[in-house]
Amino acid sequence: MTEIHTHRAGDDHAADNDVVALLMRQHGDIRNLFDEVEQSTGDRRKDAFRRLVRLLAVHETAEEEVVHPFARRSLPGGEQVVEDRLAEERAAKEALSALDDMDIDDPKFLPRLLALREDVQAHARAEERYEFTHIRRSTDAAKLALMAKGVKAAEAMAPTRPHPGVESAAANVALGPVAALMDRTKDAVRKAMGHDG
Ligand SMILES: [Fe+2]
Ligand SMILES: [Fe+2]
Repeated sequence: MTEIHTHRAGDDHAADNDVVALLMRQHGDIRNLFDEVEQSTGDRRKDAFRRLVRLLAVHETAEEEVVHPFARRSLPGGEQVVEDRLAEERAAKEALSALDDMDIDDPKFLPRLLALREDVQAHARAEERYEFTHIRRSTDAAKLALMAKGVKAAEAMAPTRPHPGVESAAANVALGPVAALMDRTKDAVRKAMGHDG
């Protein structure tokens, strides 16, 4: 009886303990946030952009701490696959900080945002194809769950929902330098994974 009723919860739990499922969900959240920034204006755009910057920074940091090192060691040709992904991530981070320094009302903001979106999508597709599918095949549930723990610790630092009171001055509160957020994310990921291993 109970088994039947917990089927759905069981699925959620499984996804929650699967680092690949978590990272692919973040790829979807990032896609949605790009759309939200594109489709909004004023303070709403500012707020959506803050959340996008934050999630991208946290997501790429988690990948660099958790899945890239694993892929480098464990996948055939992993060294080159990871070098290619890291180069794309470096380029995306530079484009992101350039955008972060711009006024969202600057006429160049949107074209640059859309260019970054294309690069980020291509990067995500390459990760899913050359890294994630192989990670699932070459590891066990315990290792997937430990890596998921690291990614969840990172994700906790990047809310994807709008701030309450977005219409107010709250949207203008500075996030602080992206580099500092990445450092804090690294610490959180290492702590989360270290506790289990
Ligand atoms: Fe990445
Ligand atoms: Fe990614």
